[in-house]
Amino acid sequence: MKIAIYPGSFDPITNGHLDILERAITLFDKVVITIARNSSKNPLFTEEERLQLIREAVKKHKQVEVDSFEGLLVDYARKKNATAVVRGLRAISDFEYEMQMALMNRKLNPDVQTVFLMPNERYTYLNSSIVREISRLGGDVNDFVPKVVKQALDKKFKVK
Ligand code: PNS
Repeated sequence: MKIAIYPGSFDPITNGHLDILERAITLFDKVVITIARNSSKNPLFTEEERLQLIREAVKKHKQVEVDSFEGLLVDYARKKNATAVVRGLRAISDFEYEMQMALMNRKLNPDVQTVFLMPNERYTYLNSSIVREISRLGGDVNDFVPKVVKQALDKKFKVK
């Protein structure tokens, strides 16, 4: 059984994340999408809210597990018997940070491979912080996030 971890902040999950996840499940028997707890970030959505939104967004995929973790990603991957970490690569601007993480993770645990997947071109300019900003300022994010996330954003920013 080939298991991959798809880690991130997912604050909130976007259609770009879902695009990557859907590609990953064609390659692995099971994908664990997991929120990394990070005390230095101040997320818009609580961990529980983010988990709920992900659960709702991925519920049709039976081979996907939704989870969160604390500590090193490579330790978590080992605990989950995963052999791969999936990350999305949208543009060259992502590359430096992603390569640094991938190489550091490989140094920490050579048994876990990082697999980069490219989303559909329509998501290359999309990320969670832009979605939060557009939504906060009253813009339309319908094309960028699942319906359940749109509703949660509206609630956060008190749109009627
Ligand atoms: O969605 P993000 O914020 O780009 O995801 C970053 C994430 C969660 C993948 C990264 O911060 C991470 O792996 N955190 C867990 C702690 C860890 O293992 N740090 C060392 C990475 S080299």
